[in-house]
Formats: sequence, structure tokens, C-alpha cells
Amino acid sequence: MSSEKPTTVAAVDAEALEREALAAVARAATADKLDEARVRYLGRRSELKLALREVRDRESGAALNALRDRLEHAVEDKQAELAAAAGAETEPFDPTLPGAEIPRGALHLITQLRRRIEDVFVGMGYEVYDGREVETVWHNFDALNQPEAHPTRDPQDTFYVDDQTLLRTHTSPSQIHAMMAKEPPIYLVSLGRCYRRDPIDPTHTPIFHQVEGLAVDRNITLADLRGTIEQFASAIFGGRRQVRMRTGFFPFTEPSVEFDLTCYMCDGAGCPVCKRSGWIEMGGAGEVDPNVFVNVGYDPEAWQGFAFGLGLDRIAASRHGVPDLRMFWENDIRVLEQF
Ligand code: DAH
Repeated sequence: MSSEKPTTVAAVDAEALEREALAAVARAATADKLDEARVRYLGRRSELKLALREVRDRESGAALNALRDRLEHAVEDKQAELAAAAGAETEPFDPTLPGAEIPRGALHLITQLRRRIEDVFVGMGYEVYDGREVETVWHNFDALNQPEAHPTRDPQDTFYVDDQTLLRTHTSPSQIHAMMAKEPPIYLVSLGRCYRRDPIDPTHTPIFHQVEGLAVDRNITLADLRGTIEQFASAIFGGRRQVRMRTGFFPFTEPSVEFDLTCYMCDGAGCPVCKRSGWIEMGGAGEVDPNVFVNVGYDPEAWQGFAFGLGLDRIAASRHGVPDLRMFWENDIRVLEQF
């Protein structure tokens, strides 16, 4: 007698076994029956497993492994088929049910504020005018009557692309584009990003947002400006906001004012938001300087106008208690999802 065991592979008729096993799997009408077939053909004591244990040569080993894989797949497919059929029986598919909820983000706080401001002005008959972020020195400074030696022209303060081109430092050049493009009357707001070389700290970011307003018509006075700002501020902040004007200076307006609003938090009584003054500084404004009209080819004797400009970032921050402007840029979901 040989000490070597005779190989049993020969004893397995692989083809017959496969046919038989596949037929049993196909026949199984319930999960239990399928499991019976699985144990019988793939279980630890199945003919196939015993044969695999005995196998000695690579070729028959590979053939038997492949057969095992095919049978396992057949069982899995049948399992899925039975499960689907069972599911369909107990829970018929209802196409009217809402789908799984996909979590939605929200618009950035600055974008929300920007859109609200646009809505308010559109409601007052204003047009929303899209300016450009890359500007010529002429549109950003010269046409706005900014003197040659003005410090904001300094490359220390302004991002220059080349001698004649820069990233706009304010939204005011939108006034120039609009007036060059059409005749009065003009009622527009222009909102968007502005750029200045400010070091980043809690109250400064080199990219920030402004809204520019411009009205050009016959007999436009500072009273119209005051009424417009009051209307806008009441719509944005709620309640009845009052406007306080202080004399100021901007090269593109004459006279120029800086304007404050009664604090939206305390209504003027004094609180931490307005640093106990009752007023919140909002921006600059004035009557359009006749030189600006001349620069765009308007007759300064025939037309008057007011213009104003203010920043969105600080309004958004103080209204919502965001303590640091840098948070608007960090994309921290914990901050953004609150709005
Ligand atoms: N452009 C000014 C700034 O960035 C804001 C401003 C002031 C705009 C007065 C105006 C204005 O239209 O009339 O500080």
C-alpha cells in the first residue's frame, strides 16, 4: 500500500456537480431552501470542500476554486433576487413618497445680505448694475476726480495689475461705467467685491464688499439722499431707522457727508453694538461732483445726482454677532450653517 492518499479530485465530476448545484440554487424558492442548497454544495462538509481539502496539484486546485467562486456568486445573486421579491411583496414601491433627504447648504451670509439689498433697491425702482473687479486707473481714480497725489493710489494700498490696471478699491467706478454707457435719468446700485492692501485682522480683510448707489436726474438734493437711505435702512434693519449726516470729504461728491443710522439693536438708546452712542456709522455719500459729470460727458448745469457707498461685511458681522471678519473666509461649517 502506498502511503500517499489517492487524490479525490478525480472522484469529483466537477461539471456534473456544477450543474446539480446551480439547478438546486435556481430551484430554491425561499431563503431557507437556498440556505439548504448552499450548505449542501458549499458547506464545510460538501463534496466540493472535501475535494478542495484533498487537492494536490495546482491545476485541479484552480479549477475547483473557480467552481466554488461561481457557485458562491450564484447563491449571492439568488439571495438578492429573493430579498428583492420579499421587499416588493411587503413594501410595494410608492413613487409618491418623498426621497431620502439630501442635506442642503445655504447661501453665504454676505450673499444673502447682498441679495436683500438688491431686492430693496429694485423695489424702489433702481437697476442692479454689474461693475467689474479689474479696473483701469482712470475709472477707479481719475474719472472720480481723485487727485493725482491721493494716498489711496499708492501701491502700498492698492493692488496694481500694471501701471494702468488695478483691482478696484471701491464700487464707485461702476458709476462711471453706467454714466458713460447711457443718458440720465439713472437710478442704480452696484454691489460686489473690492480690494485693498489692508493687513488681515478681525476688522480688515483685503477683499471686502460694498454697495454703491447712484441717482442722476433733475433737481436731486441731499433730502432725496436722506429719504432713500432711511427707506433702505428701515427695510434692511427693520423698524424706523433715522439717518444722521456729518460733513465729510470725498473727491467725487460735493458736498460730501458721512452718514450714521440709529442703532438697529437698541433703537438709539445705547448698547454694546453701537458702543453706547446710539448711532452706527454706515458709509459715505454726497451730491455728485460737477467734475465727475464733466468727465463722463454730462452737462453739470442740467443734471444733479446723489451717490453713496457702504461696506457690507461690517453690517453683516454686527447684525449677526460675528466677532471677526476673517470668519467669513474660513468656510467653517459650524459658522456658516447658522445663517
Ligand atoms: N467709495 C467710497 C469708499 O470706498 C465710499 C463712497 C463715499 C461712495 C461717498 C460714494 C460716495 O458713492 O458718494 O470709501
